[in-house]
Amino acid sequence: MIQAEQKNMVEVNGLSVVYRQGKQEVPALRDVSFAISRGSTCALIGPSGCGKSTLLYVLSGLLESYSGRVLVDGAPVAPLRRETALILQDYGLLPWKKVYDNVGLGLEIRGVTGKERSTRIERVLTEVGLWEMRDRYPSQLSGGQRQRIGIARAMALDPDLLLMDEPFSSLDALTRENLQRQLLDIWKRKRMTVVLVTHSIEEAVFLGQKIIVLSGHPGRVLSIVENPRMGEAGYHKTSAFHALTTELREKLVP
Ligand SMILES: Nc1ncnc2c1ncn2[C@@H]1O[C@H](COP(=O)(O)OP(=O)(O)OP(=O)(O)O)[C@@H](O)[C@H]1O
Ligand SMILES: [Mg+2]
Repeated sequence: MIQAEQKNMVEVNGLSVVYRQGKQEVPALRDVSFAISRGSTCALIGPSGCGKSTLLYVLSGLLESYSGRVLVDGAPVAPLRRETALILQDYGLLPWKKVYDNVGLGLEIRGVTGKERSTRIERVLTEVGLWEMRDRYPSQLSGGQRQRIGIARAMALDPDLLLMDEPFSSLDALTRENLQRQLLDIWKRKRMTVVLVTHSIEEAVFLGQKIIVLSGHPGRVLSIVENPRMGEAGYHKTSAFHALTTELREKLVP
């Protein structure tokens, strides 16, 4: 029997995470539940230390000790799922590898080699405009270029689920806006499901069709806000955009 395609790409039910530090227990997430439909974008926002990165680690399959139910594409989350890409908070580039090999890393780990690997690396490096930089090391790039390498590495996997941990936070305002637009363009072309962790309320409203607001440590869901106009041309200049940022600011800092 052919299974119907899952409407929800991500389903999280009653997720709690407790880190163990020697004898101490550090609760990081408490009873978190939400769903993200296939092909949509979701922004996760909340104060520092509330468990946003932890939540992405669970969704990516990196962190396996949790309680609750977490489904990706209808199946219990599995490590190294080939179509899930994670961009880490510090980009996760290896300083001793050239740009070209950094971009190929995710493919290598998943056993994609030879012609398919080289074709994909060339395609994504061209897409982010950094093919010329393929023989450089990460230390020879600007922050914005490094971040684009992180994005290229993720896109090389042809992901249907893209998890991004504060990808633009350490960039200057102009570079950040530029990359936010590039991400929006890529999403409009590929329609992968995106989960984006951010500290920026404006970024959440610019890039999230759904915005999940987490409480301070340990993170609980405070509010889930739908943002159907996300992606509309000129949306960030409208009063609706500003009203939503104000609403979110009030939820975060009551
Ligand atoms: N390996 C660990 N052992 C113990 N505690 C941890 C560990 N990793 C994270 N924590 C704690 O769990 C909580 C959630 O951490 P997490 O990194 O998920 O927060 P965050 O929301 O991503 O924060 P930020 O916005 O600063 O990146 C924090 O209080 C943190 O100190
Ligand atoms: Mg974090």
